[in-house]
Amino acid sequence: MRHKVIAGNWKMHKNAQETVAFLNDLVNNMPTGKEVEVMVAPAFTNLMLATQILEDTNITVAAQNMHQAEGGAFTGEISVDMLKSVGVETVILGHSERRQYFKETSSSLANKVDTALRHKMRVIFCVGEELKDRKSKQFQNVVFYQLKDSLFHLPKEAWENIIIAYEPVWAIGTGETATPEQAQEMHQFIREQIAHHYGSLADNVTILYGGSVKPDNAQTIFSQPDVDGGLIGGAALNIADFTAIINAI
Ligand code: PGA
Repeated sequence: MRHKVIAGNWKMHKNAQETVAFLNDLVNNMPTGKEVEVMVAPAFTNLMLATQILEDTNITVAAQNMHQAEGGAFTGEISVDMLKSVGVETVILGHSERRQYFKETSSSLANKVDTALRHKMRVIFCVGEELKDRKSKQFQNVVFYQLKDSLFHLPKEAWENIIIAYEPVWAIGTGETATPEQAQEMHQFIREQIAHHYGSLADNVTILYGGSVKPDNAQTIFSQPDVDGGLIGGAALNIADFTAIINAI
């Protein structure tokens, strides 16, 4: 169901002690009276700590990745069952850093999505074009194929558990943000493509924007009609910035 979400993607930041300190701070400083789901995505090693600290709150814990296999000889990887066994019910898949540095492809991501959904995990699926795609005006095409090749084989019911995050690669960690108009244009395009394949359920799909969201630009981005919240990297590492962004929605 479409709702407002602010998710902090911590990437490879915050050790166990820093995770505990931040989450205690977050619990104590959570903005009240907001109709928004707040999420944090710590490193694998800190997921269990996070689910324990946040057990009695409505802050969600997400993983940043998982393997597509149920289990087996995959040294260094983490399975869906391992995530669920520590209380994690949401996973980020297809982040551009996973695509770029770890060579994840649309077809391996389709397998990961299938595995996650089979286990009733909720998926935050990331899409987004590179600068060269924007310059050559191929940005909608690139995002269309990312959606089609990893998600459009799914049955209608599956979409209850999918959140999309549009993250233009040129805006991630660069201090450059898409303008509110560029964000809206792509979010609307994504919703139209989902509608084209699945009909009216597209109105209920939550679509987040990510890429250098900061306290001072959050409000204008979030005020766009097809932007349902944000996937926040750098600014989610600092409690004052993160709570200011939650407040901006
Ligand atoms: P950023 O990262 O906010 O630091 O640009 C966003 C993301 O990668 O999810």
